[in-house]
Amino acid sequence: MSSQEKKIVKLRVFRYDPEVDEKPRYEVYEVPYYRGMKVLDALIYIHDNYDPTLAFRYSCKIWRCGSCAVRINGDAMPACRAEIKPDKDYVVEPLANLPVIRDLVVDFSKIYKRFASLGPYFVTTKSRDKEPARVPGRKFEDFIKVAGCIECWSCISVCPIVKVAWSEMAGPGLMVALAQSAYNPLNEHDPLPIAFAQGLYSCTTCRKCVEVCPEEIAIPEVVFEKLRAIAVRRGMGPLPGHLTPKELIETTGKSVARRDTPFLESIETEVFRPLGAIIDRVGFFTGCLADYRLQHVAKAVLDILLRLGVEVVVPKDQVCCGSPMIRTGVLSILEKLVKQNVASFERLGVKTIVTACAGCSLTLKKNYPDLIKEFLKREMPFKVYHMSEYIVNVLKQKPPMKKELKIKVTWHDPCHLGRGQGIYKEPRELLASIPGIQLIEMEGADQCCGAGGGVRSGKRELSELVGANKAKQIVNSGAEAVVTECPFCVIQIRDMLDALGYKDVKVFYLEELQRQAME
Ligand code: SF4
Ligand code: SF4
Ligand code: FES
Repeated sequence: MSSQEKKIVKLRVFRYDPEVDEKPRYEVYEVPYYRGMKVLDALIYIHDNYDPTLAFRYSCKIWRCGSCAVRINGDAMPACRAEIKPDKDYVVEPLANLPVIRDLVVDFSKIYKRFASLGPYFVTTKSRDKEPARVPGRKFEDFIKVAGCIECWSCISVCPIVKVAWSEMAGPGLMVALAQSAYNPLNEHDPLPIAFAQGLYSCTTCRKCVEVCPEEIAIPEVVFEKLRAIAVRRGMGPLPGHLTPKELIETTGKSVARRDTPFLESIETEVFRPLGAIIDRVGFFTGCLADYRLQHVAKAVLDILLRLGVEVVVPKDQVCCGSPMIRTGVLSILEKLVKQNVASFERLGVKTIVTACAGCSLTLKKNYPDLIKEFLKREMPFKVYHMSEYIVNVLKQKPPMKKELKIKVTWHDPCHLGRGQGIYKEPRELLASIPGIQLIEMEGADQCCGAGGGVRSGKRELSELVGANKAKQIVNSGAEAVVTECPFCVIQIRDMLDALGYKDVKVFYLEELQRQAME
């Protein structure tokens, strides 16, 4: 193509006028491309050159007012932020979870009504007429983390809780507003009781909202987990269902009750050497569930690492990583857990930790560096890998597998593995390498199963509403089995498939299948 020749981009745009059309349709438009063009520019071109009836919202065009958010190739974002690539086609649709007024314009009135019902945002009884308030900058640290919200409501359009039971939670964007109110050091109004009533404990910490937030607000951490910790300190939280894991951790060091002999009690040594040459040495962090409930998974992880030539160190005195407590705001218990785990792995000279639990690997990677700094006043002494990334990216070799499994499977991305750690391709690569496996993608593979963030233990019915959607996606994929890498997902998905009458659809941990194929 000569440099003079204009490149053309194609946009398939959702068109629907509920007052006239029986059902929505898509129109394809060809738009001349120029460098730096945004999806909003293309919509304006379509409006000005092809169809002046195309309805869409915008105002600032500089990603400040939040009004232009739409779904672009499935992802919610402000259209004025989404840069067009000349070699790509685009599907532009209205935000999900909200009724369509016309074309790309959705009805936000439900959000604004809910917003108005949240009570005052800011109250002060002090007059600033004579003397301005003097507040040290550090007091605004938490506020700044949530202050950037441009009210585009992309987050609300993707939240799995809003989708199944909006009454249960105001929605991420509105919880951000409550957090702004709570963290503003000049505010005398206390929004915490409202936040509690508006679903403070209804977030699964799935991070879908973070994925779409143009301001990159870490909503699960800086809104939900932080407000939950404040609620616990003030005696408002956690929920009754969260007390059992807390009591179990206090008495046994694990967040679940034991079933059969725990893996760590069943092993006779703490250091396992492979038969041949040793290519690496790692500490195996089992996590509570692989130790107490899914012992076969822990055994499979150990076998696979040994077969790959790795010396595996398994401290028997390791305890819960603390994830269920961090997610529900029960922080008082963390110091003991962190100190115990650091001591256990350091006692055996471990420098690299591997775990097959999505939640544990996220916690050890993302929370432990700060917790170790806080409790031990030093840097994180370990490198941490999820099992799949360790095998694919560090060892760069697959376990030797001979046996054909001949099964059609689909993969479920645990939220804390995919969005939490960016690990998507590694487990798929390992799964696809198992002889005889046919891997098919389900629609919404990364959609939350509803178990996380203490929702399964604290709000079971809500968790099941989200989980039922996941189970249907698995069944609709036509797979005979779903495979994943998170014990909470495994248990939740099994329960939901059973509840919907799909007992024949199997649920596997990735290492289970790898282990079977190695036999
Ligand atoms: S983390 Fe997930 S469940 Fe929680 S508010 Fe965000 S999208 Fe909703
Ligand atoms: S939190 Fe982010 S995604 Fe949600 S409304 Fe605010 S800017 Fe938009
Ligand atoms: S037009 Fe204001 S954010 Fe896009």
